[in-house]
Amino acid sequence: MRKPAMAMKTALFVFLLYVLHCAVCRDVTLPTGPLYRVAGFPLSLPCVVSGYEGPRTQDFEWFLYRDDSGGRQMGVVSTRDKGFPYAPFQARVRNGEVRVERDSGEAVRLVIQRLRAEDQGNYECYTPSTDTVYQGNYSNMVTVKVIPDTLQISYSRALTGQPVPEGAMLTLTCSGSIRSQQLTHLSITFGKRGGGDSSGSGAGGEVSTVREIISIDKMLGIVPGHSYKKRYDDGEITLEKRNGEGGQGVYVMRMKAVRPDDSGSYFCEASQWILDPDRSWQKIAQRMLDIGNLTVQQLAESLSITSSPRGEVTLQVGSPLILTCEVLGLPSEVNSGLLVQWMKRGSVRSDAVVAGGVEVEVARMSTDGIVSWGDDLSRANGGSMEKVAEGKYSLKLFSARPVDTGVYRCVVSVYAGRSNPGSSTPATLTQKSEGVIVNLKTKDVAVSAVAQLPRGPLLKRGNTITLICNATVKTTGPAQVQVQWLRWPIPEPVIRGSVSDGAPPDPPVVETPRLIAALMHDGVVNIHSNGSEVSVDRLSAISYRLRVHQAAIEDQGMYACHAEVWGQDPHGGWYYTGVKAESNALNVYLYARAGDLLLIPLVVGVSSALFVGIIIIATVTCCFMNRLAKQRARK
Ligand SMILES: *[C@@H]1O[C@H](CO)[C@@H](O)[C@H](O)[C@H]1NC(C)=O
Ligand SMILES: *[C@@H]1O[C@H](CO)[C@@H](O)[C@H](O)[C@H]1NC(C)=O
Ligand SMILES: *[C@@H]1O[C@H](CO)[C@@H](O)[C@H](O)[C@H]1NC(C)=O
Ligand SMILES: *[C@@H]1O[C@H](CO)[C@@H](O)[C@H](O)[C@H]1NC(C)=O
Repeated sequence: MRKPAMAMKTALFVFLLYVLHCAVCRDVTLPTGPLYRVAGFPLSLPCVVSGYEGPRTQDFEWFLYRDDSGGRQMGVVSTRDKGFPYAPFQARVRNGEVRVERDSGEAVRLVIQRLRAEDQGNYECYTPSTDTVYQGNYSNMVTVKVIPDTLQISYSRALTGQPVPEGAMLTLTCSGSIRSQQLTHLSITFGKRGGGDSSGSGAGGEVSTVREIISIDKMLGIVPGHSYKKRYDDGEITLEKRNGEGGQGVYVMRMKAVRPDDSGSYFCEASQWILDPDRSWQKIAQRMLDIGNLTVQQLAESLSITSSPRGEVTLQVGSPLILTCEVLGLPSEVNSGLLVQWMKRGSVRSDAVVAGGVEVEVARMSTDGIVSWGDDLSRANGGSMEKVAEGKYSLKLFSARPVDTGVYRCVVSVYAGRSNPGSSTPATLTQKSEGVIVNLKTKDVAVSAVAQLPRGPLLKRGNTITLICNATVKTTGPAQVQVQWLRWPIPEPVIRGSVSDGAPPDPPVVETPRLIAALMHDGVVNIHSNGSEVSVDRLSAISYRLRVHQAAIEDQGMYACHAEVWGQDPHGGWYYTGVKAESNALNVYLYARAGDLLLIPLVVGVSSALFVGIIIIATVTCCFMNRLAKQRARK
């Protein structure tokens, strides 16, 4: 029973010893082969040693067993011995074309800058022993196959450096091909050197920045360059692969609308990739091709906006106002979207002439040709905005009115290279024309207004208030009067003044008149009162009547009428001439009804009796006390 147990223990001990022992065995690691590399391009072989004793910085020696050498070993390069390389490698080692690069004490790389066909074979990485006991593996081998360089790249049309207008489309085409026995992949990158300094590196001066624009990677995925990501996402930059003749890949990069900072020197670069046995992708060949220089001409340098007529125009009211906007210096080869706006500053509003003020939009034509009108929608009926020729836009107000006076300006926003930009796309450039001053001469118009309360019995509550407004117009040609009645409370400054004792008097309260009713120039009546019934009518050519039926106490107040003169233009349209008159104010006071009046004597009687009583008491008290005081003083 004890013997097998002993045997097992011994076996376990031996195994443990082996494991412990071999945990510190030297091992040399190389990538798994075979590795296919392209002639003329670099070979980089990493070699790592582990499980060694002695100094941390280990020495390495590289040997090559050429296929045709019948197993003969050839010294390539060593980290410790300058005389190590065999004749074929001596010159290449001396000029650094073949070398060992050290990554750490225990990891190096054999680098052959330009592989030659005769470099094919088995490479051995050997580490001289620094161990107390010779244990483990002191070298390792990897097979390197040198394949011919078949990577080809070409472009179909070079950039000449001739200025290209901002917004133009840029198309670059590169073709690439590889003919390899091995399965290798091709990647293509379009890039740019120098030109636009959008990175804004504060140092200034000529910094040759290389930027990747867009790539098609080894797995055929499209990858935009860092600073081009937004434009790629917006669909402004595309890259497409087509199948060309003889298995060639044709790669077409498009920039929809070039910008000034796209100026620079363009190139395309093709890379050949292979999947190594350790499943890592390695770039084994690369070739770059200059396509040429791009110079982008800024739109701002050529664009100009003019409007005609220029300077100042004076028109008769009712005559047409025609303004034309011309967009000059748009490159014809670029299909740009235009937003054209007519703006106006200053006008005659219905109550006052406003100089300066904000600029308002009269009308606009969007990039898709749709015309919309600004706030004053009445213009839309009497006006038009049209594209009369390429780059020429007209604004027509068929019958100009006094409100149309002001300074007109044409504002053009250019969306270079985008005939139908999205609503979030900013304009490439916005420019304004010089202003055109438009004056309108009105006919000589004069108006006066008189308001009158017809004679009659005193107005009492419940009666009908009647007000006559006579508006007299002196003008030539057809005219109409628009009449408004207004009311505001009867001012009461005396009462307010007597109440205040010592305190500064209140500023007079300005009550804004309230519009009661209006008779429009076209005969339409507008009633604005919501209390008593109100009616408005025209009694004669100049007389207009306002009646407030069943007048209540709230209908008391100051009344006045306003008369505005409207003229008719030759096309039959009515317009406000800007001429108006205000009538005198009428005080409308409503007396109490007979029933209410009965109360007055009673109230007066009681209050006067009280008054007399107080006077008597006061006089008696005062005089009697005075006399008493005098008598005491004499004593
Ligand atoms: C040394 O190499 C041989 C075969 O090349 C292998 O079987 C052995 O495990 C290696 N030893 C160590 C310690 O890696
Ligand atoms: C492109 O421009 C660079 C300088 O910006 C110049 O050195 C180079 O010769 C130009 N190339 C061509 C093809 O015009
Ligand atoms: C208003 O005009 C009428 C005639 O239409 C006339 O009888 C009246 O006296 C005029 N009133 C005033 C205040 O002018
Ligand atoms: C209607 O009358 C009330 C009370 O007099 C007033 O507050 C309101 O503003 C009036 N509404 C209109 C539209 O005039």
